[in-house]
Amino acid sequence: MAKLCVNVDHIATVREARKTVEPDPVAAAILSELAGAHGITIHLREDRRHIQERDLRIMREVVKTKLNLEMAATREIIDIALAVTPDQVTLVPEKRQEITTEGGLDVLSQEGYLKGVVREFKNANIPVSIFIDPDMEQLKSARKTEADCVEINTGKYSEAKTEMETDTEFNKVEAAVLFAFKSGFIVHAGHGLTYRNVKRIAALKEISELNIGHNIIARAVIVGIERAVREMLYIINQSRISP
Ligand code: PXP
Repeated sequence: MAKLCVNVDHIATVREARKTVEPDPVAAAILSELAGAHGITIHLREDRRHIQERDLRIMREVVKTKLNLEMAATREIIDIALAVTPDQVTLVPEKRQEITTEGGLDVLSQEGYLKGVVREFKNANIPVSIFIDPDMEQLKSARKTEADCVEINTGKYSEAKTEMETDTEFNKVEAAVLFAFKSGFIVHAGHGLTYRNVKRIAALKEISELNIGHNIIARAVIVGIERAVREMLYIINQSRISP
């Protein structure tokens, strides 16, 4: 079964809507773990729109599974990450105007720079994942950075409107997952996944980890986070038993 890392950014989004202290993403992280999540993912954005440095520091202390920090490969955030030492970092592109991460990192155009960043984290014993579109040239370039993992972007698959478009985007994800696995990467996937579309992706046995945020938190608002996490885990689990 693919492991599930729950992204709790949007608990912090609700808190920051009022610039107050509740709800606390740390509480969401603890409850997600108690419900069976294999890891917690947070994105410390340069504009600090949701997760704050305080959240990262406390989660480093209290998360007992795996803390995955999504981050832009900028000097400020790299230094914070090296000081806090999450269990894994995932390098993502970041634009201030975007609502959420819009696409994979363009590795090709900054391969040398990223190789240096990967080396800095590896010297600190922090494994590095790179969020990447299902694009073979980007994957080949990512290989040269010596990153340990790639997270294949499922955003286009998730946003597809028709069955045909969904199949086309799924085929791209599947091909990228197989290519990445054969290239020696540990393969993760995520972005836009929901209770309705996750099964096909989770059934790909080369994927060892899924990062899911918005749809779990959306359900959690209604049914509670422990139930929302358990329901997602159930679907992921079932995907390889009865695809
Ligand atoms: N993976 C990456 C790299 C992301 O940036 C995000 C969004 O923060 C996710 C997964 C989770 O996406 P969603 O919130 O749509 O499940």
